Amino acid sequence: MRLGVLVSGAGTNLGAILEAQARGELGGGEVVVVVSNRPGVTALERAGAAAVATAVVDHRAFPTRALFEEQLIAALAAHGVELVVLAGFMRVLTPHFLRAYPDRVVNIHPALLPAFPGVDAQRQAWEHGVKMTGATVHFVDEGTDSGPIIAQVAVPIHDDDTVESLRARILAQEHLLYPRVLRALCEGRVSRDGRRVRVRP
Ligand code: GRF
Repeated sequence: MRLGVLVSGAGTNLGAILEAQARGELGGGEVVVVVSNRPGVTALERAGAAAVATAVVDHRAFPTRALFEEQLIAALAAHGVELVVLAGFMRVLTPHFLRAYPDRVVNIHPALLPAFPGVDAQRQAWEHGVKMTGATVHFVDEGTDSGPIIAQVAVPIHDDDTVESLRARILAQEHLLYPRVLRALCEGRVSRDGRRVRVRP
């Protein structure tokens, strides 16, 4: 399975995915290209260090979202990408993009969806005062963090947590969860019936 990873920033999830691949733990999955909408981000350096092809498609260079997405699709298609992996990609994708990869776009979100969708989910959970939050890997649909849920991990919030300490605890779990789910996808162990997604062991 040829994976294309879309990033916008630090790319620590990308790093975890690349490490899993290097250990042979991606079930035959291979990251063939990393595409960023922002130039100069650390995620691109991580890809370069792992000798993975990179592309920058700067959204600011395109007058419309459709033209931006056309270029994204072209960058992925040029590498024969079969599964699109969002890893800290900070642009919302429209149906235009999703039609090019039906049921083939996944995302990781730092909360137990459907709680706390959207930006800064860790802060939302911390401010709300919930005692348990986590991370979710889901298929991407037209909404914001609303697609069918593939897998989740719970993370406790402690009384003495700051947003930053919580963010770090969740991120450590993301780094375990995302490669595990990608491996299941690459091994064909994920099936879907409407919103209900099943991951076979
Ligand atoms: C992660 O918390 C992820 O859940 C969210 O954006 C963050 C990306 O971090 N979608 P990184 O770029 O992988 O370090």
